[in-house]
Amino acid sequence: MKINILTLFPNMIKGGLSESIIARAQYEGRVTLNVYNYRDFSNNNRRAVDDAPYGGGAGLVMQVEPVKNALQVIDPKHHSHIIYVTPKGQPLTQERVKLLAESEHLTILCGHYEGVDQRIIDNLVDEEISIGDYVLTGGELAAMVIVDAVVRMRRGVLGSDRSVEEESFENNLLEYPHYTRPENYDGQKVPEVLLSGNHKKIKEWRYSQQLKITKERRPDLFKKHLQSLYSCKKKSELRRVLRCLDAVGLIAEAPTHWIKFSNYKRKK
Ligand code: 6GU
Repeated sequence: MKINILTLFPNMIKGGLSESIIARAQYEGRVTLNVYNYRDFSNNNRRAVDDAPYGGGAGLVMQVEPVKNALQVIDPKHHSHIIYVTPKGQPLTQERVKLLAESEHLTILCGHYEGVDQRIIDNLVDEEISIGDYVLTGGELAAMVIVDAVVRMRRGVLGSDRSVEEESFENNLLEYPHYTRPENYDGQKVPEVLLSGNHKKIKEWRYSQQLKITKERRPDLFKKHLQSLYSCKKKSELRRVLRCLDAVGLIAEAPTHWIKFSNYKRKK
């Protein structure tokens, strides 16, 4: 996979993506990151890339020319999917990240403090993405967020494929809590079930914890998760879900038809 990033601050991007898993992915040739400075594509000898806004107002606006020149060099036939990072964009989700990870060629345009000429967006950009409802000083961190999230979804980048399947947002659930040694830390004990060696029980405990934490912190996701199971026809599957909801006091959240259909008997 190849990712081009255009920015006024190439060192920020290079530094931020030169450690840990993303650095290894580059070293192993799973992703090639090309970082370009807009100023190298300026038409004037001051290397200026911005000018005052028409209609007046504070700040400067990025001009079309340097962006167009850069794209003409980097991706003249527009083979890549071109993303502009902006708080006005569509919010980034794990679902969108997965789709972007299927692309072999992305180009990310970082914004300018005050904004870019609208004609860049209208003529050169395929998609506008935001990384959340807050404002950053520039698009660089947002571009790095996208690269990190996308690259880790590529085959071979993470050690084991299981870590992707079990993580937050898979099936609209947040992750269950993890524990490691020591078994007793200052009187705080690891949940007994995790020491039992009973894999079915451990799996159900983890699922129960996911249901509980998702209901508490992200009721929107919890609702989506239950909706995805709404018309499930597998009785054993439904009984498992009901058992796990019951275990964390959430049985009332289950649609009543599940209980009848699956013949679920409450524990107590
Ligand atoms: Cl993509 N850019 C900036 N400047 N701020 C943001 C953002 C992007 N996404 C959320 N906030």
